[in-house]
Amino acid sequence: MAVVQPRPTIVHGPAPVPAGEITAERYVSSDWLADEADRLWPEVWFFACLVGDVATPGDFVAVEIGRESIIVTGTDDGVAAMFNVCQHRGARIAKGHGHTEMLTCPYHGWRYRPDGRLVVVPENQLFPGGVDRARCSLPRLRAEVVGAMVFVTMSDELPPVREWLGGVAERIEPYHVERMRLIGDQTVHLDCNWKAVFDNFGELYHVEHIHPQHQELFDCPTAQVELFANGHTGVVIEGHTVNSRMDIPTMPTVYQKMSLERFGGDPAEYEGRILDVRGDIQKLKRDRGAAYGYDYSEMSDERLSDIEQYNLFPNTMITVLPDDVLIARARPHPSDPNRCLWDKFTLVRDPDPAVAAAAGVPYEGRTDVDRDRPRPEHDEFTHEDVIAGRKTMAMTIDQDIHYIRDIQAGMHSRGFNHAVLNVEEARIQHYHDWLDHTMGVR
Ligand code: FES
Ligand SMILES: [Fe+2]
Repeated sequence: MAVVQPRPTIVHGPAPVPAGEITAERYVSSDWLADEADRLWPEVWFFACLVGDVATPGDFVAVEIGRESIIVTGTDDGVAAMFNVCQHRGARIAKGHGHTEMLTCPYHGWRYRPDGRLVVVPENQLFPGGVDRARCSLPRLRAEVVGAMVFVTMSDELPPVREWLGGVAERIEPYHVERMRLIGDQTVHLDCNWKAVFDNFGELYHVEHIHPQHQELFDCPTAQVELFANGHTGVVIEGHTVNSRMDIPTMPTVYQKMSLERFGGDPAEYEGRILDVRGDIQKLKRDRGAAYGYDYSEMSDERLSDIEQYNLFPNTMITVLPDDVLIARARPHPSDPNRCLWDKFTLVRDPDPAVAAAAGVPYEGRTDVDRDRPRPEHDEFTHEDVIAGRKTMAMTIDQDIHYIRDIQAGMHSRGFNHAVLNVEEARIQHYHDWLDHTMGVR
């Protein structure tokens, strides 16, 4: 097995405190979870929903973050966000996502416009002097859009989200995720702390051990780790190649074959030289992308073959490839540190004959794309559903889910003190240092 040294980590924004010990408390303590509600969530921008789900005035999405619930809506002025709490007696107004002219509280029927303004109070004369509509409108929150994602903050102090993301927004935007189509919307209820599952997506050290299929897809040992200000992190992994710690196969892997054939290449030509596939995939996509209906004009050659993943502090991961994107999000349980929600949104870029037409080349891409397909239904299931194979979030994530319950159990052990991290796990350390800083722990 070849010894491969990782690339030195690129630090764009160092942590504001020295590296601290990551002890079990933050994963198992109810007090810590309650502190997060007071000292973490009100101090960050968080990914609330996809722009596509609030594109039309009257569209709404309700999202729970721990003990808070937020409504994001489409309005005549763009997107709006507000607390999902009726100003009459505190009922939750909206659930899930949908479209409505009026957000109507199910308890006594107070009705609010999509921008949160209270407009209807049944039997208004019962309230002495009537209800002050302005004062009893839904408390608004700041909402801003980056690409396909709506971010919300409870803070009036934080800078705009693009600034707060510290350079990560500029990394993501050339992929134009907002032009992609949502094909999967899943939530699994996991038996672990929300940070335990998020940590799992902050390192590649485990990949060779629990995701053996990845050695024929990516070269994780040479991945480039990056640390950004405000706790965000990234990693760039070469794709359409093989793990450089393994023996190089003679023939292209099944994944390389698929990619070559998709863009008109001949896998047989690569016998004995499969390390040329990555560069040639870049060339094929560059030369033939437009004919196949893909606009790669804003992407570097490396981006045509490689995979980039950004962990947006404090709970959202976005994995970007040229033609598909995965956005995943960990959400805390309102009261139990041993449980959380893990959401996964899957998006794909449909080939578009207009891209070929604009480039002045004949269209050679797929003709079976159904552009009018409805949005997929939200699917929600349990940890056990995944373990038992009744539900899947794709092989790799299922493999992660298989182990994460045991890790949470380990955090409760008297035999565990604190995590011991290697250089490749720098993203986890960076994340927790910013977490400590944000919560005022250190
Ligand atoms: S709590 Fe909403 S109308 Fe009464
Ligand atoms: Fe994993």
